[in-house]
Amino acid sequence: MFETKIGQIVFRNPVMTASGTFGMGDPFRDFYDYSQLGGVVLKTLTPRPRKGNPPPRLYETPAGLLNSIGLENEGFDVFEREVLEKNPFAEWKTNVIVSLAGDEEGDFVQLASRCGKLPGVSAIELNLSCPNVHAGGATFDSEQEAVYRIVSEAIEQSSLPVFVKLSPQHDLVRNARVAEKAGAAAVTISNTYLGMAIDIHRKSFVFARKFAGFSGPAVKPMALAHVYRVSREVNIPVIASGGIASGEDAAEFLLAGARLLQIGTMGFVKPTLAVEVVDFLERFFGDVAPEPLS
Ligand SMILES: Cc1cc2nc3c(=O)[nH]c(=O)nc-3n(C[C@H](O)[C@H](O)[C@H](O)COP(=O)(O)O)c2cc1C
Repeated sequence: MFETKIGQIVFRNPVMTASGTFGMGDPFRDFYDYSQLGGVVLKTLTPRPRKGNPPPRLYETPAGLLNSIGLENEGFDVFEREVLEKNPFAEWKTNVIVSLAGDEEGDFVQLASRCGKLPGVSAIELNLSCPNVHAGGATFDSEQEAVYRIVSEAIEQSSLPVFVKLSPQHDLVRNARVAEKAGAAAVTISNTYLGMAIDIHRKSFVFARKFAGFSGPAVKPMALAHVYRVSREVNIPVIASGGIASGEDAAEFLLAGARLLQIGTMGFVKPTLAVEVVDFLERFFGDVAPEPLS
């Protein structure tokens, strides 16, 4: 299988898990050996613990999933202590990418600097699709100046490569260019799409926050188009995230210009999907990475 390099990091194959769909690694341990993947992305961590949103948090549609988890997590302090004490990632033998978010710009920078001291962490993914409490809840990537500031400062403070995950609710090409200019090692295209569901019997919104993130097979054609457009406009690697449900889908994203892939929602349906995608890509492309279509 062909390797992919981002800076000094070597990915033995292009397949990774997507943040928030792999927990902190535990749910998938009974299904496969993580060393079979190029890498895994952990659930987004914030400086303080978050309880997340009230239920319901998930809602299925015919070809996709709405989620309103609200970044529930244990907080960075607990994670950091555990990693320093137990060094859990050593036995995973794959690239571990830590996903970070916060309430304000400084949170990303502070956590990025602390990640550099954690054993077994290969890179950071900044989840810029979460709300900035000081900007009335607009997401951090709604403003290109904020993207530049957060990414450049996080890079200055961290010894690790920084990936930047963007939201399709904002101009992905513009934000990817800004992330590249600020020094990002890669951009992840993209986070979930804005969605909603209404309970017609109760005449109310399904989710307490009205809106939710939409993912799964329904978003794949949009994600593919975004990956194609962004990968033509930046020189840094594009990591594809959106609706991958099979090895064939993964191959499409590589031909569209992605260098790495993340498997999210469909891993809930088929927990072994990520390793099946690796097998398919190995058989289909062999040892040579495909040339992206022009
Ligand atoms: C239940 C759920 C939780 C998610 N949590 C996060 C998260 O914590 N951080 C993040 O960056 N993305 C999160 N995402 C987005 C996924 O990482 C992924 O970018 C998105 O779902 C699109 O890929 P998919 O269609 O393969 O799921 C979450 C998605 C789902 C379905």
